[in-house]
Amino acid sequence: MDLNNKVVVVTGAGRGIGRGLATYLAGKGAKIAVVDLNDADMEATVKECEALGVEARAYRINVANEAEVEQLFSRVVQDFGSLHGLINNAGITRDGLLVKFVDGKLDKKMTLQQWQSVIDVNLTGVFLCGREAAIKMIELGVEEGVIINISSVARYGSFGQTNYAAAKAGVATLAETWAKELARYNIRTGAIAPGTINTDMIAAMKPEARERLVQAVPLRRLGETRNIAQAATFIFENDYFTGRCIDTDGGLR
Ligand SMILES: NC(=O)c1ccc[n+]([C@@H]2O[C@H](COP(=O)([O-])OP(=O)(O)OC[C@H]3O[C@@H](n4cnc5c(N)ncnc54)[C@H](O)[C@@H]3O)[C@@H](O)[C@H]2O)c1
Repeated sequence: MDLNNKVVVVTGAGRGIGRGLATYLAGKGAKIAVVDLNDADMEATVKECEALGVEARAYRINVANEAEVEQLFSRVVQDFGSLHGLINNAGITRDGLLVKFVDGKLDKKMTLQQWQSVIDVNLTGVFLCGREAAIKMIELGVEEGVIINISSVARYGSFGQTNYAAAKAGVATLAETWAKELARYNIRTGAIAPGTINTDMIAAMKPEARERLVQAVPLRRLGETRNIAQAATFIFENDYFTGRCIDTDGGLR
């Protein structure tokens, strides 16, 4: 798919990797539907995309809410006239150990609320957005559609992240399943599993803590949001790619 003039929805595009994805694809000529919960952040992303000469609009919705997601895709098609791509990027963490014992006694456990909130956004949100995007692409009869799920290196198992690791393994598997189901409608899929990416959150860490993260990476540097956008661009542009997950982690795993 040539991204020029294509309509792409990016969830969680208010900041971080999502903003990096939105602006990089805008630089390739894509029109961007910016989806997030934060109005001010979305406005900044929309302005950055517009400065690159493309149309961009903000949509404040919760990706875990079925009715809001259904409305989102109808509005996007109304506003832009089409839909060619979706990047499921919105995500949260609520880290904690499965169980923690102190002096032989149970001290803490991951709460159902901790588990459920991450599953709701990171897994159910991806399911809902992927489903609604596929419906619109099929109804519109687009020549080619692309759906990308942002997974994580945590998909291989991650200390203190029972909820997050399960969701991130899940979204890689959704990409694989959808590749099989949606190929007949000319929809390709893919997932990207970032390692540690240099977002505002990491920039704000204490230098020693940040250095520890860097030292764990074979390439001895953190990834940039651009590196994730490059992987997404590869998935969009390569029409023999579908269903696989691109680990983009500097060799971290
Ligand atoms: N930063 C990393 O190192 C890293 C590594 C691996 C994977 N990831 C994944 O990449 C994605 C983006 O990460 P990031 O570091 O940019 O995160 P971030 O927290 O900086 O940005 C996430 C964005 O998603 C939005 N969001 C959260 N819940 C939402 C909801 N229910 N509905 C709509 N929007 C919602 C937030 O408002 C925020 O703007 C996430 O899926 C994350 O799990 C990040």
